[in-house]
Amino acid sequence: MSDSDVRVRPASPTDAEALAGLCGELGYPSTVRQIRERLCLLGDPERTLLVAQAEGSLAGFIDVHVQRVVEADPYAEVGGLVVMAGHRGEGLGAALLAGAAEWGREHDLTVMWIRANLAREGVHDFYPAVGCRRVKDQRVYEYPL
Ligand SMILES: CC(C)(COP(=O)(O)OP(=O)(O)OC[C@H]1O[C@@H](n2cnc3c(N)ncnc32)[C@H](O)[C@@H]1OP(=O)(O)O)[C@@H](O)C(=O)NCCC(=O)NCCS
Repeated sequence: MSDSDVRVRPASPTDAEALAGLCGELGYPSTVRQIRERLCLLGDPERTLLVAQAEGSLAGFIDVHVQRVVEADPYAEVGGLVVMAGHRGEGLGAALLAGAAEWGREHDLTVMWIRANLAREGVHDFYPAVGCRRVKDQRVYEYPL
């Protein structure tokens, strides 16, 4: 499949069903109803959810937002990135990342952070292959509320 066969576009509420399947593949099982509720993020000017279409069907997404903290200038942060198992290795992941980077530049941001679980196989070869620099390793803690 050539790059021209891949289309990256902003998600719409009608994508909810396909997005639910992709969230499951990412390791976050979600119902279509939950996805519909979460898609309120589409109205937030400091976030975007981009989807990749291959051969006409939705086969991946990337979620990116502006992160604002007191200790650093605003930066872009990827919340989730996944490509459907049957479409990996076709350039969709790279196209989604490029789309998110373009969105970040349009919002005057100069860097995009991506956090990836060390346990995710393949991902740690993907990011350097698409131009990312490994900066640090971290542990993630959960505080019950
Ligand atoms: C990581 C992921 C998004 C990559 O998407 P993809 O569409 O398969 O990646 P692409 O086809 O765009 O690959 C882009 C480049 O990365 C390389 N690459 C991708 N996956 C790779 C792997 N597992 N091992 C080595 N290189 C890999 C490709 O060879 C390609 O390099 P090239 O341009 O030099 O040929 C996809 O594998 C995925 O959804 N994984 C499961 C979910 C996940 O782990 N998401 C990340 C959470 S942080």
